[in-house]
Amino acid sequence: ILLLIMLWLTKKITSLPPESRVLDRSDFPDDFVFGTATSAFQIEGSTAEGGKSPSIWDHFSHTFPERTRMQNGDVAADFYHQYKDDIKLMRELNMDAFRFSISWARLIPSGKVKDGVNKEGVQFYLALIDELLANGIQPSVTLYHWDHPQALEDEYGGFLNPQIIEDFRNYARVCFENFGEKVKMWTTINEPYVISVAGYETGNKAVGRCSKWVNSKCPGGDSATEPYIVSHHLLLSHAAAVQEFRNCNKTLYDGKIGIVVSPWWLEPHDMTSPTDKEAIERGLVLELDWHLDPIFYGEYPEIMKKRVGNRLPSFTAEESKMLLNSSDFIGINFYGAHFVAHLSHIDPSRRRFKTDQHFEKKVLNHSNHKIGPGDDLGIIRSYPVGLRKVLNYIKDKYNNPIVYIKENGIDEYDDGTKSREEILKDTLRISYHRDYLEQLHKAIIDDGCDVRGYYTWSLLDNFEWEHGYSIRFGLYYVDYNDLKRYPKDSVNWFKQFLKRPVAKS
Ligand code: NOJ
Repeated sequence: ILLLIMLWLTKKITSLPPESRVLDRSDFPDDFVFGTATSAFQIEGSTAEGGKSPSIWDHFSHTFPERTRMQNGDVAADFYHQYKDDIKLMRELNMDAFRFSISWARLIPSGKVKDGVNKEGVQFYLALIDELLANGIQPSVTLYHWDHPQALEDEYGGFLNPQIIEDFRNYARVCFENFGEKVKMWTTINEPYVISVAGYETGNKAVGRCSKWVNSKCPGGDSATEPYIVSHHLLLSHAAAVQEFRNCNKTLYDGKIGIVVSPWWLEPHDMTSPTDKEAIERGLVLELDWHLDPIFYGEYPEIMKKRVGNRLPSFTAEESKMLLNSSDFIGINFYGAHFVAHLSHIDPSRRRFKTDQHFEKKVLNHSNHKIGPGDDLGIIRSYPVGLRKVLNYIKDKYNNPIVYIKENGIDEYDDGTKSREEILKDTLRISYHRDYLEQLHKAIIDDGCDVRGYYTWSLLDNFEWEHGYSIRFGLYYVDYNDLKRYPKDSVNWFKQFLKRPVAKS
């Protein structure tokens, strides 16, 4: 009788419409991909092992240790040595895919293919890919997650110089030739907006350049022009890599390639202010259209040309052609929302950033109104409905392209006062993912957004750039004393969510 009641209950629960029960993977399309995401510099460690040269992040964190909390990537999460065990963790989670990046400096130490490809680097990534495939996990490879060889910076100024486009093309070709038969999912540039703005305007990430009026400690730069120049070269590098991929692809491989952008959803600082609402439109152009318009339309958005004027480089006809349709899909890293005010509402002493001035808007981390249950700060870090809105924005603006959520996750600040046991109880992370997946489901099923996959950031706690190891994003806790991994409660949650029903014989 008990068995019958249980069977009846299970039937009843699974036949409920999705909105009235907790979702699981069976609510998503059959070929929908779930994965975890990482990047080389944040997890590998072994920065001077296996023939690797210093990358810009090695240089930045060692030259200005005070800008990365006196920490660096020398050891990180030790993935370089522990990848086999970490793949077991992915299996334990029931994940289908793993996103990682190739370190350009590990593969081609001088940055230039003509100087030679590092065999040990090739072997490391081949071994990693083979181990993933042997465990039934699809590799998703990022070509550039922020860590090009410092040598290219020293020689010609990295992404400030158009010379990098051909070096990136050649690096990408080496990746396709060596790994293309096994890897079917590629992304080119991770978060061009963050690279340009944090690296060259605010200066808080490598290469840490900015104008003196932004931060007197910056080693030099021009925040008014450099972000636009760098993004221009990032976009052209992306397009060159895709061209190379498609050339290889015709003869040898099948696979998909795309760029990854990083929008935050924007809400008005003052709900009643029409000018704050207009500022949002301009803010979204900066966060999304800046890097997507060239790919969908072959040029920068009109509003950008008008506002940035001759500081914005332009594409030749040939470059536009190369950019047009250069993404098989759009990768989105989504975390939360910001509030935005019209610039004239902001005290002049706080209008330091040039992109804010050009777009007459200012991002704020607080608001004078609530946009949902909970308080403002909580909403900013977690704003699931914002994901649905961003997906609809992209669907409407770019004719419903294929999208992958390439990162989504929540950080926890570890100031050293919490015990490991406390950190392992990550109920916040569980509700974060549950709520995001619910909104994602609505975007796919109710709104018809063509989203094909969802990757959580991150598999492991890791080096969170300027915050060093003080911020933990992992599903697995890493003890930085002995580099052991411990499952947080969210591991169990994902395990259940991703469990596949046992096939009936
Ligand atoms: C986006 C970046 O791609 C990743 O490197 C970073 O750690 C996460 N966001 C979290 O901030």
